[in-house]
Amino acid sequence: MNVRILNSREDLNATAATVIASLLLSKPQAMLGLATGSTPIGIYRHLADMYRRGQVSFARAYSVNLDEYVGLSPEHPQSYRSFMNEHLFQHIDIPISHTRVPDGNALDLTAECVAHEQAILDHGPVDLQLLGIGHNGHIGFNEPGHSLTGATHVVDLKERTRSANARFFGDIDAVPRQAVTMGVGTILKAKQIILVAFGAEKADILKQALTGPVTTECPASLLQCHPNVLILLDQEAGGWLK
Ligand code: F6R
Repeated sequence: MNVRILNSREDLNATAATVIASLLLSKPQAMLGLATGSTPIGIYRHLADMYRRGQVSFARAYSVNLDEYVGLSPEHPQSYRSFMNEHLFQHIDIPISHTRVPDGNALDLTAECVAHEQAILDHGPVDLQLLGIGHNGHIGFNEPGHSLTGATHVVDLKERTRSANARFFGDIDAVPRQAVTMGVGTILKAKQIILVAFGAEKADILKQALTGPVTTECPASLLQCHPNVLILLDQEAGGWLK
């Protein structure tokens, strides 16, 4: 794994955005695997700025998101579809028909998981997968446990994940109990993975994920098995590595 510790969050966001933009310059029809949560917001802001300055175009690109809450319609303000529209898609030139966020409100969630995998097969493989990391080591919504699932599937969210995400909902009871997520097998099929993390509260789990054993109890540790992973950390998250 290639680990870089940047001086500031701004540097971290700019570095991640530049890697994504460089990929699109060399491969305009690239498929991007995208994440939600606090971590990628600054990266998306940078990409939107680069698009406005004419430095990158997404017109031929495809995107596929990691996950979506079960039971939220795409229009729900806390759905990951709304998040992506608000923080990235409405600011760039990607055709919305080229973007895919799982539909957490689908009547047949099993069929929705199959459709998500099929979309990746149709336009993929994913050229670059952007990841954050949960405080418990989850990637996507692949929660720690005795086993992990390879393909896109429905998952029960851990209480720690629900309470971490309650900040977006205002009230923990409003946080859905399940999500649709790409599985770790799907994530690991991406040609390149960038995991981004900032803040001291991610330092301990990063230490486990990057230097501990590869274990389903820390899903991010499986990234140690991938041949092309870039880890971008700020000083607070990665200072322990020095
Ligand atoms: C989001 C996702 C999650 C988050 C993780 C970190 O699509 O898949 O794995 O990346 O929960 O969230 P933040 O960035 O809010 O700390």
